Amino acid sequence: MLTSGGDCQALNATMRGAAKVLYNRIPDVEILGFKEGYKGLIGSDYRKMEPEDFSGILTVGGTILGSSRQPFKKMRVIEEDGVDKVAAMKQTYKRLGLECLIVLGGNGSLKTANLLSEEGLHVIGLPKTIDNDIWGTDVTFGFQSAVDIATRAIDCIHTTASSHGRVFIVEVMGHKVGWLTLHAGIASGADVILIPEIPYHMDSVIAALKRREDGGKHFSILAVAEGAVSAEDMLISRKERRRRREMMGFPSAAYAIGQEIGKRTGREVRIAVPGHTQRGGAPDAYDRFISSRLGAKAGLMAAAKEYGRMAAFDGVHITSIPLKEAAGRLKCVDPKADTIMEAKAMGICFGDE
Ligand code: F6P
Repeated sequence: MLTSGGDCQALNATMRGAAKVLYNRIPDVEILGFKEGYKGLIGSDYRKMEPEDFSGILTVGGTILGSSRQPFKKMRVIEEDGVDKVAAMKQTYKRLGLECLIVLGGNGSLKTANLLSEEGLHVIGLPKTIDNDIWGTDVTFGFQSAVDIATRAIDCIHTTASSHGRVFIVEVMGHKVGWLTLHAGIASGADVILIPEIPYHMDSVIAALKRREDGGKHFSILAVAEGAVSAEDMLISRKERRRRREMMGFPSAAYAIGQEIGKRTGREVRIAVPGHTQRGGAPDAYDRFISSRLGAKAGLMAAAKEYGRMAAFDGVHITSIPLKEAAGRLKCVDPKADTIMEAKAMGICFGDE
C-alpha cells in the first residue's frame, strides 16, 4: 500500500477499511506499507504492517505512511541521481514478491498507477483528494471534510464581515476545479462564487456587490476558487497568468480580484485564505463512511484479483472502473449543472451574467 500526493483527511480510514477486509478474507496475508508514496516504492523504503497499525486510525487525519509528490510527468525522466524510477518501482515490486499494489492517490498518482498497471504490475487505485476532480467517481474521499472546513471558515468570516460592513474574499483550494468552492460557497451562503469552470467578468461581480449594497446589505462574501480565472485572462496561458500575477506581487488569484474590487468600488476589501487547514484534521462522518466503503472495496478487489481498476462511487453503489479510464481525465463542474442553476436562482453571482 502507499499514499501518494497531497494528503487529505480520510487516508488512514481508507487504509483501515482495506486492511480489515484483507486480513479477514485472505489467509496469511502480509501488508507492506511504502513510506512517502512512490518515493518508498522507488527506494524500497517500506515497513511490514501489522493489524494493530490499522487500529484506532479511523478518525485520524494525515497518513500513517507519509506522502510525497512524485510528478507523473517526471516518472520517465532520469534525473541527476541517475535513477530510472519506473524500473526501480518494478524491481521493488518483483523483489518483494508483491501480489498487488494498492495506491491511494489523486489525479497524478493514479496516472502513475495506470502506468505501472500497463507495465504489468497488479494495481488497485483508490480516489483520494479534497479537490473531488477524479473522473469516474461521484466523490473522492477527503472532499466532504474539506467542504466542512471551508464552510466553517466562511461562516466565521460572515460574522466579522457583517460587523464591519466589509467585502470579504475567501480563497478556497481545489486546484484546477471548483467543486470545493461551489459546495462550501453554497453551504455558507456566499454571495459570489467564482470557479475556474465559469470564467468571470469583473463588471458582473461589481454589479452583484452593488445590488447587495442597494438592497441594504452592507457586507458581501465572495468564495473564490484558487484557480478562478477572468474571461479576459482565459485568452492567455496559465503560465503567463501566473507570471503576470507574480509581477504584480499578488500571491494568488484572490488578491488580484480584491485589489480590483477595492479600486472600482472604494470599499474596504479583506482576503482570507484557509489554505492547508482544508486538508487537515479528522475526517468527518461522511468521509469516514465513504472511505471505509471504498477501502473495503479495494480489499475485496484484491481478494478477487480484480486488478488494473480503481474503486469508485457511482452515487448509489461502490463499484470499480478501469484505471486507464480515470487516469488523466479531470472531472470538472458542469457550468450548466442543476447545482449552478439552483444557486443562480437563489441570487448567487458566478460572474458570468
Ligand atoms: O490537490 C490537493 C491540493 O490541496 C489542491 O487543492 C492544492 O492546489 C494543492 O493540493 C496544494 O498542494 P501543496 O500541498 O503541494 O501546496
